[in-house]
Formats: sequence, C-alpha cells, structure tokens
Amino acid sequence: PIVPVILSGGSGTRLWPMSRPERPKQMLSLTAAETMLQLTATRVMGELRADGTRGEGNGGERFTAPIVVANARHADMIDEQLDAVSASAQAVILEPAGRNTAPAIALAAIAAGDGASPLLVMPSDHVIDDVPAFHAAIHAAMPLVEQGWLVTFGIAPDAPETGYGYIQVGEEVSPGVNRVVRFVEKPPREKAEAMVAGGDHAWNGGIFLFRADAYLGALSHHAPDMLSACTAAMDGARQDGQRIYPDADAFAASPSDSIDYAVMEKADRVAVVPVSMGWSDLGSWDALHAISPRDETGNAHQGDIVAIETVNCLVRSDGVRIAMVGVEDLIVVASGNDVLILPRGRSQEVKKLIEAMKDG
Ligand code: GDD
Ligand code: MG
Repeated sequence: PIVPVILSGGSGTRLWPMSRPERPKQMLSLTAAETMLQLTATRVMGELRADGTRGEGNGGERFTAPIVVANARHADMIDEQLDAVSASAQAVILEPAGRNTAPAIALAAIAAGDGASPLLVMPSDHVIDDVPAFHAAIHAAMPLVEQGWLVTFGIAPDAPETGYGYIQVGEEVSPGVNRVVRFVEKPPREKAEAMVAGGDHAWNGGIFLFRADAYLGALSHHAPDMLSACTAAMDGARQDGQRIYPDADAFAASPSDSIDYAVMEKADRVAVVPVSMGWSDLGSWDALHAISPRDETGNAHQGDIVAIETVNCLVRSDGVRIAMVGVEDLIVVASGNDVLILPRGRSQEVKKLIEAMKDG
C-alpha cells in the first residue's frame, strides 16, 4: 500500500487575516466546506482509482491511513479535523519547531518502518480539482517508484512564477513518466521567463512519490547530517497514542532545508509525471479569486456581505458584515479584529503588510 504523508508545517502568511500562526491556511475552509487539510486527506483514502471510478481494477493498490507531520501546537486541531472526515492518521509526528520539509519528510520515512513503503508526500494546503487525474498520475509513477526513483508531479506553467520549482522534462522513461533533466528551485525572474518560453519546463507541484528507503538513501548522500539528526530524533521519540514527539534537542540539531534544495536538485534517478489536475497552491487571495465560483458580475463572496454595483471583487468575512457600493476589482477580507483591503493583482503584497505590522 501507498503511505500518504501530509506536511502541515507552513504558517501561511499570504492569506492573512484569515490565515494566522494559530490557524494556518491548511486548517481553513477556502474552496469548500472542508478545510484544505481535510480535502488533502480525503483525496487519498481507500483505493487508488486510476480510471476515475472507485474500486475499479488498477492493480489493487490502496492507501494506508496518512502520516501527518505538523507543528506540535496544532495537534488537537489536526485530530479534530481528520476525525470529522473519518480520516484518522496512523501517526501524527509533532515537530517542536519546524526545520523545513526535508527533515519533516525524513521523520515520516523513518516512522514508516518498512523501507519498501512508497510514500506519497503532499502539502496540506493545495487545491487539486481533478482527483482521478491525480490518481492516474500516481498509478503511472508506481513502476519507477518501486525501482527506487524519486518521482515528482509536473504542472504546465502559465506564468513565470518565481515562487515555484521548475523541472526540465526529458525523455519518457516509463509510460507517462519522464526523466528530469534538471530541477531548478525558485529561479530568478529572467530565468523563469526563459524556462516558460522554452516550453520544456514544468512547475514542480510540491508532491513527491518515492520509497522510504530511496529518500533516506538520497539523504545519506546529499545531507548526511540531516539524516543522522532525524534518526536520533526518532530514536529518542516519545509516543502517546498515535502522536509521536521526536526528541527536541536531536531534531533542533538538524540543518533546516527544503526537500527541493537538499535532495531534488542533487539526486540521480529523478522522474516527473506531467499531469493536468486543476492544481493550485492557493498562494494568494488573487489565486483564490481566480479559482472561486463567481456571480454574474464577477464577485466571489463568502460570509455576511451586502454589495451593490460591485464588480470583480473577492469579499470574505468570518464575522462582521461587509457592505460595499460602487467598487471594482477589490479584495476585502475581514477576520476577527482585522480587515484587509487591496486592489486585485496586488495580493502578494500582504507579506509587506505583515512586516509593517510587526514593526509597528
Ligand atoms: N511538517 C512540516 N514542517 N511541514 C512543512 C514545513 C516544516 O518545517 N515547512 C513547510 N511545510 C509544509 C507546508 O505546510 C506546505 O504544505 C509544504 O510543506 C511545502 O512547503 P512550502 O513552504 O509551502 O514550500 P513552497 O511553496 O515554498 O515550495 C514548494 O512547493 C512549490 C509548489 O507549491 C516546493 O516544492 C516548490 O518546488 C514547489 O513548486
Ligand atoms: Mg507552498
């Protein structure tokens, strides 16, 4: 069976004021009644349904209950949210402080026990509209995964985003799966533009599939200090039901790095499955507006909103009533005591506001 590994360590500042350190983006309902974490977990429950139908023949591959790796402060919220969709985790590994994704995945790979287990590593905060297409891509990757390859999922780029990793897609090595010529994490603007224009690059979707031992083997080559710190952290871990608390001092000694820089850019035998699955990392309020259902005047509203002659706005409130008249192309988000207002197209600048509020 495939072991889903759900990464829930990000603090998600770009969707402030709804997303906050105590309740980050993955714990919010943004695109549906379910939270992003719940959607992530329910996407990989039961059988792999490669042809889009439940329980149909695709080698009988199944998913186990997920391993969740998260910040310790979110332990209760994670349990509640998973219970609410009957997706209880087999283990929740609680980090005392985040060391980025490469160590987080190492903890899960060690916890998986059996090195031959294929791990499907997923961010907890992404949108995937076409789940059957996702499952089909996983199915296509399995033969190479079993041979020890590290597999990623490639999204056709539609803009020179600098916040993503880029994958140069090489020749097909297995049906539907291509060799990665190189992996370029978060390139500067000009480089991103050239890669998008060239047509042979995909975005890295941030989702990975590999055997636990293949990942740990790559770490032993490219980040041995990280591997030994994570091994020590798990050797000294305390367990309480399905909760696992890695040893804090041992884990703190691990270098902090992402899987992309620590492993993917350096490893051999890396493959990509190009897939079109309605993927979005939902990295900004503009991204949410782009994928939200909109009314006939282009507004995406949620909460207590009164809007007259309002066009192409994203308006959300989790409490106070918002009333607006005669405005266009605005993002207005109210949560708790905070209200965010900015023109559409500038939602990346929320980061600046957060910095400014820290200083003030
Ligand atoms: N448990 C845990 N611990 N999870 C973490 C930690 C950590 O220390 N740091 C990040 N995560 C989780 C985040 O919550 C998110 O779900 C996922 O790991 C990816 O981390 P991000 O910090 O969001 O990465 P990114 O968006 O900058 O870049 C990655 O994703 C892009 C696609 O969205 C890279 O893989 C890029 O190459 C990729 O294009
Ligand atoms: Mg991200």
